[in-house]
Amino acid sequence: MRATVTAHKDYTISKIDDRVYGAFLEHLGRAIYTGIYEPDHPTADADGMRGDVAKLVKDLNIPMVRYPGGNFVSAYNWEDGIGPREDRPVRLDLAWHTSESNAVGIHEFAAWCETVNTQMMLAVNLGSRGLDQARNFLEYVNGPTGSYWGDLRKKNGRADPWDVKLWCLGNEMDGPWQVGHKTADEYGHLANETAKAMRLFDRSLELVVCGSSNSDMKTYPEWERVVLEHTYESVDHISLHMYFQNRAKDTANYLALNHKLDNYIETIASTIRYVKSKKRSKRDVHISFDEWNVWYHSNEQDRKILEGRDGWPHAPHLLEDIYNFEDVLQVGCILNTFIRRSDVVKLACIAQLVNVIAPIMTDPKGAAWRQTIYYPYYFASIFGRGTALNLKVNSPGYDADVADNVPYIDISAVHDEEAGSLSFFAVNRHATETIEVELDLQGFNPSQVIDHQVMTHASLVAVNTAANPNAVAPAKGTGAVIGDGKVTLKLPPYSYQMLRIKA
Ligand code: AHR
Repeated sequence: MRATVTAHKDYTISKIDDRVYGAFLEHLGRAIYTGIYEPDHPTADADGMRGDVAKLVKDLNIPMVRYPGGNFVSAYNWEDGIGPREDRPVRLDLAWHTSESNAVGIHEFAAWCETVNTQMMLAVNLGSRGLDQARNFLEYVNGPTGSYWGDLRKKNGRADPWDVKLWCLGNEMDGPWQVGHKTADEYGHLANETAKAMRLFDRSLELVVCGSSNSDMKTYPEWERVVLEHTYESVDHISLHMYFQNRAKDTANYLALNHKLDNYIETIASTIRYVKSKKRSKRDVHISFDEWNVWYHSNEQDRKILEGRDGWPHAPHLLEDIYNFEDVLQVGCILNTFIRRSDVVKLACIAQLVNVIAPIMTDPKGAAWRQTIYYPYYFASIFGRGTALNLKVNSPGYDADVADNVPYIDISAVHDEEAGSLSFFAVNRHATETIEVELDLQGFNPSQVIDHQVMTHASLVAVNTAANPNAVAPAKGTGAVIGDGKVTLKLPPYSYQMLRIKA
């Protein structure tokens, strides 16, 4: 099977915001406890943070990490996580039916972010709480000493404000499962008033208002219209979430799901444009896709805890999806969509980062390893920075449930002008056929392959484990040929690859 892909140096989509490669950490299951934090682990630092996990996180060069939730944030008292550890209360976490020790709070998370070289994106609780607690948390995090909250922060060991710019106004407030769930009107009003108050403290904050929890919500996309009509002048981003499943074991339909994602993004982009016009506004609001990933492998095993049949365990195994090779292809397609929609998607977070639906897994007291999906996320984060190119793709396709004529090749390209490089990220969705691709690189003068990484596997259900952490891993690619302004390469059946060219 053949495909042609044409790129032109001047046909660009947008400069990609690096923060599209963000991640998410919630007080949920073992994400924090025995994930990033485990004081008696052999690699733990003085703060109790696992060094082996920090290393795997650091390698990803993640621009920002969203915290502390998620559903958790909607009944969270941030004050429980400050001050001497021995005085911090154990609380029942209503979202996940677990106990929260509060051994990790904002100070510990902020120090960890410094260790792994990332920025914080913080969420305020607009479920069980409201404007007043949001502004108090903001002042505690960013306020000057010489005032109540700044002085308390100093007393707790941190004199300098952290100066966090990115703030989420609650989480999934459209979801009936959310503590403090609201109608679009109720939430829009509260979010706007909270945003106004937060901006009175600091006009330069970047604020994210909740959009839909997924595109199957009954309230979607009317929710976005109503919420934006309340908040358009006071927020910078509207958040979207989406998780992907292959319960039917139908790979062709599964791998077409990023077309649904694309439609979701386009619908909300048009809703933003509609509200902007209606308001006669000059400002732009963008999309923060601050939860995305594959999530379904662990659903069955989680039922007992989520239904409360295990009491209130602390840091149990929850949402521990073990990702397979098929999920590598899915995550590759999702990231390609974000690159292609970098005109409107300015922030995004893989959900989550460690143990909980995560690219990194740990054993308590034991090893940390990379799940299969670590790799496409790694390649996009490291080599997907620059300007997204508007590719013309000609490829045979197939009809799927969510779209007709889904091309067998899913591809995106990023031009890093400074580095003089062009990176391609490509997935072959075909089960049995190799795709021979001709990349016509107009205005680029390609001269040399800098790097070529390929992921294939005999089994779609192959996984990485502590005992066999490299069962699914990239291998050096061969056979990319450069000549006459073109590059040819072969994509084996069901494969992912990253090709980087000097251009
Ligand atoms: O990431 C897991 C959960 O998924 C988050 O807590 C919530 O926001 C979403 O429903």
